[in-house]
Amino acid sequence: MITKLKQIKDERGKLIVFEKDNNLTFDLKRTYFIYYKSSLDRGFHAHYNTNQLLVCLNGTVKIVLDDGYKKTKITLNNSENGIFVPKMIWHYMTDASSDCIMTVMADKLYDKNDYIRDYNKFINEIK
Ligand code: TYD
Repeated sequence: MITKLKQIKDERGKLIVFEKDNNLTFDLKRTYFIYYKSSLDRGFHAHYNTNQLLVCLNGTVKIVLDDGYKKTKITLNNSENGIFVPKMIWHYMTDASSDCIMTVMADKLYDKNDYIRDYNKFINEIK
């Protein structure tokens, strides 16, 4: 689930590369950025069809992944690791720092009908 991101560091700073067939293993259709202003949790959904790569560009955040059988909590606090969240994985973001900035890459366009926002429905769908 953890994807190593290519980092090119020099005296000017750091450059991070997402490249198809390298560390981006899907067809990128959409990128969005999340800027936190408080530690309020986000997410709490699964997607029927969308695969995503989550990266924390600044600050820290914990990602909880739930396949309906097992929950895993992963801390993202650098841009060296991304988390791949496949379709049909319930996920949410918690304990974010107020300076947290995330970017998410997705292989589908935004479609509100692709979301499962009810946990019991998610459990019923996967069983
Ligand atoms: P929301 O799903 O609540 O964010 P999160 O999963 O982080 O809790 O999305 C917030 C709003 O942004 C909601 O009205 C849907 C809209 N949105 C788009 O219009 N396009 C997108 O690509 C995304 C991810 C969200």
